[in-house]
Amino acid sequence: MNPERRNQMEEIPNVSNRVSQIPKSAIHEMTRLSKEVEDVAFLSWAKPTSDAPEHIKEGAVAAIQKGLVGGYSENAGLIELRKEIVRKLKRDNNIDANPSEILVTVGAIEGLCAAVMALIDPGDEVILPSPTYSTHIRQVVIASGKPVMVPTIEEEGFILDLEEIEKAITPKTKAIMYCSPSNPTGTVFGERQLRRLAEIALEHNLMVITDEAYEYFTYDGHKHLSIASIPEVRKNIVSCFTFTKTYAMTGWRVGYLHADEKLIPQITKAHIPFAICAPVVSQYAALAALKGPQDCVSAFREHYLSTRNLMCERLDNLSSVFEYQKPSGSYLMFPKILPEEGKDSTTFCKKLLREGRVSTTPGIAFGPTGQQHLRLSFCVPADEINKAFDRMESYFG
Ligand SMILES: Cc1ncc(COP(=O)(O)O)c(C=O)c1O
Repeated sequence: MNPERRNQMEEIPNVSNRVSQIPKSAIHEMTRLSKEVEDVAFLSWAKPTSDAPEHIKEGAVAAIQKGLVGGYSENAGLIELRKEIVRKLKRDNNIDANPSEILVTVGAIEGLCAAVMALIDPGDEVILPSPTYSTHIRQVVIASGKPVMVPTIEEEGFILDLEEIEKAITPKTKAIMYCSPSNPTGTVFGERQLRRLAEIALEHNLMVITDEAYEYFTYDGHKHLSIASIPEVRKNIVSCFTFTKTYAMTGWRVGYLHADEKLIPQITKAHIPFAICAPVVSQYAALAALKGPQDCVSAFREHYLSTRNLMCERLDNLSSVFEYQKPSGSYLMFPKILPEEGKDSTTFCKKLLREGRVSTTPGIAFGPTGQQHLRLSFCVPADEINKAFDRMESYFG
């Protein structure tokens, strides 16, 4: 291991290399530092600030009162829930599934982790677009795989660089892993790009692991496409979804994945040692979410659209400090920092926090091309955005 890498590792005896090589999470570090600053304007979490709708909570309460939540469910999840997920996948993702192709997981995160564990052997390479959601990089590392970061094309809105992805493929490449709509850039990968990605996966016999956490939050006519809806490539895809973002159910820890029927028992073998099953009370809440009215989803989407527009307007007034690509999805954006000090995004964000009282996330957390950027979340009330930008205007002014 190179000395620089060793220096970044935390020197704690008896901890596996697998874990100690994982750097501290910049998101959690900023949260910790933010607590030291009074009345901070907080734009650093990708967590919905709204609460889950009442009918979802009532679904959970009713299940508790009926005594349904005291035991484990099937490892793959409650059959009623999996049947409802099948209906949702058909309706909203154009994926024709059956319940034995579904695994209910502890949020999208555990589904992604179980999929990576089931597919990646030590030394296998996984191609990830850069910047990407930092947890994906860690999931590959924790499986002793090798993340291979392929820069996206920022000037075109952080789209995939398909030529570079193809060039990055080696005999060790096992999978491609991406999130769309993207955390941190807000990019929605378009149909043409995803169809080509599907061809590449087929030509090289690669698996594709998708994170579709923000599937319902797209704007300006951009449409989310689940790559598993392309029949030719379906067997190569593991698609991960969650209730966290769609229904503001972060703390409930429930999500699910769809994969080929033959793969599900294998992924379940990886899921059991981490979770046995997803929390049963949350599975009942998820059932209520899918069966209940869906207008909360469009209300969240409308809110994020208006806060995105507000954030872009406010960024336009700071054009000597930030240059940005307008996000077409999710509730995150990834402006470039123009002044020299932005070269070290961590120092820049820490200074902005201490001196400007605005909490953001350093871009370097999302892969090497994230340097000189910061991530801003617009899943907050408009007032929080105005407070943050009023402060930034006087700080940079
Ligand atoms: C892209 C992406 N995937 C997954 C998650 C977490 O999902 P869950 O709460 O379902 O584990 C997040 C949370 O920020 C995210 O941004």
